[in-house]
Amino acid sequence: MNTTEIFDGVRFPGFIHTPESLKAACSFQFQDTDILLVTFPKSGTTWMQQVLSLIFCEGHLWPIHNLPTWARVPWIEQISFDSLHSKRNTSWPRLFTSHLNAKGLSPALMKSKAKVVYMARNPKDVLVSFFHFHRIAGFLPNPSSFEDFVDEFLEGTGFFGSWFDHVKGWLSLQKDLTLFFVTYEELHQEPRFTIRKLSEFLGRPLGPKEEDIILEHSSFSFMSQSNIVNYSLLSKEIIDQSEGKFFRKGVVGNWREYFTPELNEKFNAVYQSKMGDSGLCLPWTMD
Ligand code: A3P
Repeated sequence: MNTTEIFDGVRFPGFIHTPESLKAACSFQFQDTDILLVTFPKSGTTWMQQVLSLIFCEGHLWPIHNLPTWARVPWIEQISFDSLHSKRNTSWPRLFTSHLNAKGLSPALMKSKAKVVYMARNPKDVLVSFFHFHRIAGFLPNPSSFEDFVDEFLEGTGFFGSWFDHVKGWLSLQKDLTLFFVTYEELHQEPRFTIRKLSEFLGRPLGPKEEDIILEHSSFSFMSQSNIVNYSLLSKEIIDQSEGKFFRKGVVGNWREYFTPELNEKFNAVYQSKMGDSGLCLPWTMD
């Protein structure tokens, strides 16, 4: 189960990706009405899948209570064409998720007017969350140590490639795509305002009552307790939550409990060298 697939120089877990599925994703035929959520892993993907499906469920909560997030907003790189077909029968726009980088996916995207929601998170919190996820996901290897995991993250040799290239690649396409950039931190600090802005971008403005329903059903407490979204229905071989939960902390700044001053200095030096001249205004503080 714990195998690696290398695609365009990036490592993917072989259990959930095949060369065929990755290739198919890169030549996917998007429709103008499609909405694609893109994230680097552990940036709040499941949270945003929940928000997106709540925005489009128009108060009908049956799918929220009965379908896992990955069935409502499936991964394009894992998709089976049967589930795509059945998706066409719903009244929602087609909602998809991807962890692929911009280089792989943007040529296909640019052939349509599909909307992209790109969600990013402070890379230090991404790293800590990913470190824990490697320990519970059967399709990822157990990290030897936190220090080694930091090195791998900074070198961009870990699973799903370089966080730096991912964020820079997608944000460099802001002028070429219809792209909404949102951060985990914004959604955490100002959920109502952020969801309102997002829903307007998606052409589905919400009333105050709808916002209340979305806020309730996308809260950490609701999602972590819902067996439908907290991944507890998956077999232990895929995600074993006996030693650590998928919904682990759900906070901003948990990295402070893991980074020594030396690791922090090392991380900041690489961050500065890779992101310093990117011209991107990212909302997190690195100290
Ligand atoms: P932590 O491990 O820091 O707790 P992804 O879905 O991209 O794999 O991201 C998982 C991270 O998002 C986990 O972070 C998880 O707890 C957090 N998360 C998921 N739903 C959330 C919510 N409703 N509110 C806050 N954080 C959430």
